[in-house]
Amino acid sequence: MEEEKKALFQRIQELKRRHNAVILAHNYQSEEVQDAADFVGDSFELSRIAAQSGADVIVFCGVYFMAEVAAILAPDKIVLLPEILAGCPLADMITSETLREKKKQHPAAMVVTYINSPAVVKADSDICVTSSNAVSVVNSLEAEEVLFVPDMNLGSFVAGQTDKRVILWDGYCVTHHRVRPADVAAARASHPDAVVMVHPECRPDVVKTADYVFSTGGMIKFARETEHKKIIVGTEMGLIYRLQKENPDKQFYLLSQGLICPNMKFTNLEKVYKALETLQPRITVPQPIRDLARRPLELMLVAV
Ligand code: 13P
Repeated sequence: MEEEKKALFQRIQELKRRHNAVILAHNYQSEEVQDAADFVGDSFELSRIAAQSGADVIVFCGVYFMAEVAAILAPDKIVLLPEILAGCPLADMITSETLREKKKQHPAAMVVTYINSPAVVKADSDICVTSSNAVSVVNSLEAEEVLFVPDMNLGSFVAGQTDKRVILWDGYCVTHHRVRPADVAAARASHPDAVVMVHPECRPDVVKTADYVFSTGGMIKFARETEHKKIIVGTEMGLIYRLQKENPDKQFYLLSQGLICPNMKFTNLEKVYKALETLQPRITVPQPIRDLARRPLELMLVAV
């Protein structure tokens, strides 16, 4: 088995060279996919790498909207999503039609769209954000009213840190939304000397009980820099692998066993290999949508 995996790794490396490809993996990907990737990161980091990459082919190991973002920011490159069915239930909780209806109700509001959304929705937005820059982006806007879509939990987190009026959308990440304050209490009881960090996609009552709130990239940075040796992690379980690998002297505990995103786990080494071999499945975004979605994404990339 190990030998088989090693051979597959090798063949992936060969194909990568042949096609001048780069493999990007989100922090939630499986261990083997993270190990095969050139870059592992959060949504913001991976978008920036996709936009700046000199590769001809981007293999995006993540979910559909992430590959779409790469296709928008790097339209001259071939963008592959090794598992075409890797979607995002949160992104599916908004459409351009439902957004347009809501915009009519709040004509003065600027539309701030979380990157976990379809390209057509981004195309109808003023600016995009990731969890790592949502608060600073909203605070930097001139408008007094913001329509924040589609994650109501991230939107509530932002609302707590701005004077602006934040109108929320009725969407959520099914994985993070599953966590309850009782899970935090149980984890603290099991690991009394650990601190708790959670992702802002968690419910407000969970965020309130945590010690720290970070994007996945923020969690990586915090774990590296903190003096704390024991950390309870309130985000998708894939992050634990990287945290533990980069910080062997520290202990990380998953906040709840429910923190698994099946879509992120659809991708495996075999599918990465097959994608590179066939240069399929390819993700493209129709040009009119691409042109409209590009600006809000570029504004996101220059916002700190
Ligand atoms: P970040 O990696 O940007 O924290 O986002 C997590 C996420 O929601 C991925 O779907």
